[in-house]
Amino acid sequence: MLKFDFRTYNNKFISDENRDSYISKIEKINGRFHSEELKHWLDINTYVSKEELNDIKSIAQEVRDICDVFIVIGIGGSYMGSKAVIEALTPTYNKRKPEIIFFGKNINPNEYTEVLEYIKGKSVVVNVISKSGTTLEPSIAFDLIYNDMKNRYSSEELKKRVIVTTDANTGTLRQLVKEEGFRSFVVPTIVGGRYSVFTPVGLLPIAVAGINIDELLIGVQNTIDNYLENANEYAVTRDILYNKDKFIESFTIYDEKLHYLAEWLKQLLAESHGKEKKGILPISNINTRDLHSMGQYLQEGKDIIFETVIGVKNNQSLYIDKYKMDLNNLNNMALEKVCMAHNNGYTPSSIIYMDKLNEQNLGELMQFFMLSTIVGGLLLEINPFDQPGVQEYKKLINEGLN
Ligand code: PA5
Repeated sequence: MLKFDFRTYNNKFISDENRDSYISKIEKINGRFHSEELKHWLDINTYVSKEELNDIKSIAQEVRDICDVFIVIGIGGSYMGSKAVIEALTPTYNKRKPEIIFFGKNINPNEYTEVLEYIKGKSVVVNVISKSGTTLEPSIAFDLIYNDMKNRYSSEELKKRVIVTTDANTGTLRQLVKEEGFRSFVVPTIVGGRYSVFTPVGLLPIAVAGINIDELLIGVQNTIDNYLENANEYAVTRDILYNKDKFIESFTIYDEKLHYLAEWLKQLLAESHGKEKKGILPISNINTRDLHSMGQYLQEGKDIIFETVIGVKNNQSLYIDKYKMDLNNLNNMALEKVCMAHNNGYTPSSIIYMDKLNEQNLGELMQFFMLSTIVGGLLLEINPFDQPGVQEYKKLINEGLN
């Protein structure tokens, strides 16, 4: 279950008239969600079919049985969602087996050499994820890992150990699947990239990590059924603040396990809205750690920031004798007091609470943010589904390649 507070620490900056002025715009956008154009975003079958879900579960179990290291190769939307869910829901220290390595998101030779060295003698399965199949970083990483695997596994064994997630018909990876008979999943045409965490792109790595993907999808459905209004309200809140020159949004979390959730949010918002000289710049803060660094700026720096705070109501209980208080309550008390302090400065806050950190709530939260990102993009009058700006650097790098 999610709880939203878009009012308490925003009301100094947002009036009821501000909110009311969006009623007809939101009605129009919601109409689009019920038309051919956008209705697939409210239909869970768009993300994954029943057959794919069954395949994902059985292949994930098989992978868990045979490997020490599961290498997920992909960049941007191909890995950030699954990494966010896995980091949030698995132990930070006493790591589960198999170990999951996210690879092919940089081109730093030290990292590549280290990973190749590390997997020597270990049982490896790779899931290469790229919709286009041509992206530089994952393509270099896959070539290196695949060559290493070809040297130690037979072609029959490789069929169990190479899993490809790519476009249904086109690209070099689809070609490889046809030639080598590798198992494969499809990146749905209309739910690609940063919106793809609940498609096979995200679900296979998440299932390999031992996380219950049925529960995650129950959460997605809960948001479709119950939280669309809240997603609208969040998009409106952001848009009003943006129009009052609040150009930076901090995703502020109070649990380091949500670190990659904040990274995923930064990608989702920056790539979806940052175009045509528009959009809010997303940043993140992990509190209370960052109160001792970024906190100073949020309290007294330039008046251009607002916060979206993500809290967890019921974490582990841990009694602190010194303050006669449970640490969970203390952490949430700090969250509210910091919102109050920032509101006394110039930084308004919205708060979203999950009642617990679990599969369902994370499914609800991520689907909530994806729907709200679409609504927010339509309010900005940009296309929230493309990323034309990513092409420029690719073009220049390609000119440097032989
Ligand atoms: O959100 C997006 O569309 C991007 O971040 C892509 O996921 C990223 O560029 C990777 O693209 P591809 O899957 O084609 O390798």
